[in-house]
Order: sequence, then C-alpha cells, then structure tokens
Amino acid sequence: MNIAVYFTPLGLNAGELGGRGVVVIDVLRATTTIVAALANGAKAVVPAASSEEAVRLTANLAKDGFVLAGERKSLKIEGFGLGNSPREMTPEAVGGKTIFLATTNGTPALVAAQGGDPVLVGAAVNFKALVARARQVFAQRGELIIVCAGREKQFALEDAYTAGRLIKAVRPGARKLTLNDAARAALGLTRQFATWAAALEQSEAAHQLVDVDLADDVTFSAKADRFGVVPSYADRRIT
Ligand code: MLT
Repeated sequence: MNIAVYFTPLGLNAGELGGRGVVVIDVLRATTTIVAALANGAKAVVPAASSEEAVRLTANLAKDGFVLAGERKSLKIEGFGLGNSPREMTPEAVGGKTIFLATTNGTPALVAAQGGDPVLVGAAVNFKALVARARQVFAQRGELIIVCAGREKQFALEDAYTAGRLIKAVRPGARKLTLNDAARAALGLTRQFATWAAALEQSEAAHQLVDVDLADDVTFSAKADRFGVVPSYADRRIT
C-alpha cells in the first residue's frame, strides 16, 4: 500500500491523478472555508484558478443564485461578496447558493487535482469525518495521494502537519506500506506539534493572518471536528 504527499501541487503532471484517490489540504484557509460553506448549506463551491476566472464563470448566471468569494493577500477581493474567511460562511450568507471561490493557493491546488476520484477536501475542522472517508478510499485502492496547497509555491507547515495527522490516522492495518519522502517528513511533524493550534500558530500563513487582524480565523481553523461533512470535487464542483 502506498501513501504519497505533495507539499505543493507543482510536482503534479497534468492528468497524473486521473482516477486516483486524492485529499487536498489548505488549512489556512481555503479548504477550511469550503468545509464551513458546505456544512452551512451552500449548494456547491466552484474553485477557480484566479479571481478573473471566477468572474468569467459567473458572467451568464442569475445574480441571486451565486456568491463570488475569495482573497488576495488574505483580504476580500474588491467587488466580491465574501472573502475567504470560514467565519463568513454563515447559513445566512451561503445557504442555497453556489460559491465561486478564488484564493491564492488553495483553489489553484484543487483545480490542479481535478480528475482524481474522489478528490476530498480536508481540514482540521472536518478531520474525523475526513479520516473515515479517506480510510475507505485507502483500503479499497491501496493508495492515497495527499496534495498540500502550500504557500506561494513553497512548503506550508499547517498543510504538511495535517497531511501527517492524516497518514497517522489512516495507516493502522496497512500492509507493506510505502511512503514517499514528503509523507515521512509530514509524519515527523506530528511528533513535533502536539495540537493543531501549536502547529497552525507557528506557520507563516498564521502570521500573515494575524498581521491583517484575522487571528480568529487561525483559531477557528485549528479547532478539529467542528463539521461532519467531507466535501468532494467532481465535474468542476465541490459538493
Ligand atoms: C490560499 O489559498 O492561499 C489561502 O486560502 C489564503 C488565505 O488564507 O486567504
């Protein structure tokens, strides 16, 4: 059995994930935000590779059915209805709507993972439910691929730590387990940080959020198992 981690989606070749079981992680904050939106009644989330693409995808849609959401440098994009804060994804804001989301690293990573089957959306806030689903996929396929969004094409601590926690949770019972180097390093991080909060708070992404007064998003994202949904991405939509 085999678990492979990618610390950023850059190493993925087009079509490489076709039909393979994938988990995408961007804990601060895109995947946390997507989980919160769907748990709070959004109809679907459509990840866009850029804000321009999000605008283009909505050009011919009825205004009352969708919300544009996303960030640049952590802050809401001008003209968009919502930013990328999981705390904004309230039932009032997202209920019944399709959210077109454009973020710096998270939504491009999801777009890069298209074709995986399934592509599961992972975070701390849905961790227990994610583990249950990922264990099923791993047992059936004998393989699991974990794609971290990373940050500005680099390693991101919070995503790698979450990947490590996921490996630790799915591996019991695996026969002849092969891990790639990134998976081994991710696993090592779980010995370094005892809690989600400890790992997330030390990350560069958290420092950037604190700098723009979004420390509450770090706290929100570090609380495991708030939601029981495991969003899955197929046919360009996450539901
Ligand atoms: C990203 O996609 O890089 C993040 O979700 C950025 C953020 O926290 O807004």
